[in-house]
Amino acid sequence: MKTRVVTPPGGVEEAVRLLAAGEVVGLPTETVYGLGADALNPLACARIFEAKERPLFDPLIVHLPDREWLDRLARPGALAVRLAEAFWPGPLTVVLPRREVVPDLVTSGQETVALRMSGHSVFQQVARTLGRPIAAPSANRFGRISPTTAAHVVSELEGRIPLVLDGGPCPHGIESTIVWVSDQGLSILRHGPVTEEQLAAFGEVKTPDPAMAAPGNLKSHYAPRTPLEILPAPGLIPESIDRTGLLAWSHSGTGFARVEHLSRSGDLREAAANLYGAMRRLDEAGLQNILAEPVPETGLGVAIMERLRKAAARE
Ligand code: TXA
Ligand code: MG
Repeated sequence: MKTRVVTPPGGVEEAVRLLAAGEVVGLPTETVYGLGADALNPLACARIFEAKERPLFDPLIVHLPDREWLDRLARPGALAVRLAEAFWPGPLTVVLPRREVVPDLVTSGQETVALRMSGHSVFQQVARTLGRPIAAPSANRFGRISPTTAAHVVSELEGRIPLVLDGGPCPHGIESTIVWVSDQGLSILRHGPVTEEQLAAFGEVKTPDPAMAAPGNLKSHYAPRTPLEILPAPGLIPESIDRTGLLAWSHSGTGFARVEHLSRSGDLREAAANLYGAMRRLDEAGLQNILAEPVPETGLGVAIMERLRKAAARE
């Protein structure tokens, strides 16, 4: 199979046609590129797991064409409805009790389903024209770096999927925040563009029950092939760095074989948007190892450090 890259507006029609026929398609969202399939068609969803080599115990996020679908797929309480009103369309995923129509393959047999509504205009056009919810994990092979451009999707899934709809680089660059919600409060299962500070305005943010933690939240994830290590503090550079790459926050990178700056102006938003592309370029540079400077762990920095720790984890 040859993987084709198409652009809107014509590409939207093509993507919808393939999705309606039970195929998988690479789609842009505001966070990262997703590998989409008709969420109510188990055979189509099976193709997602196949293309990504994703284990079946790892459930998928379902993207809704509009707010009405929230009640058709799940049983949201008052807090979930308030969160959806505040953050949708946008980079917040809510985990809620599911309804029967959601295929078991999508939820990995769990009683909950993860839902969001993407704020990307191209994704919205696809979902609305299809008129059905779209299951879409990040469009990378399992455990690898999430794609933030159409070219990244091709480098991950070339020959495994028929089409990538190119909507340009993803504005946020890291995956959505995932929250488990009940009327008693909420817990953050994955940090992301919607920060803990923003969520705290809506209810008590509790520590997640370990049994509830995202099933796909393996310790190692988002991982480059080149070993990556996080420095104990910014600017704390070891002596021998001639075959080492630096994922830089504040250091100039002088003396390193290769350097990628997350944000020269110290902007965490820009750093998040650059993170995966920078990791990918360092990974492709034939280095012995990669060192990453830690970023301040406030606001979006929490989500960035969560990704860096997973990229550094080896099991
Ligand atoms: O920004 C995003 O969320 C992107 C774009 C494409 O929307 N999608 C994404 O999907 O990051 P994925 O599959 O790469 O990550 C989804 C995470 C997985 O760790 C999965 O285990 C978790 O969400 N998840 C899905 N359903 C869940 C559920 N019912 N309960 C707990 N965690 C769930
Ligand atoms: Mg992923």
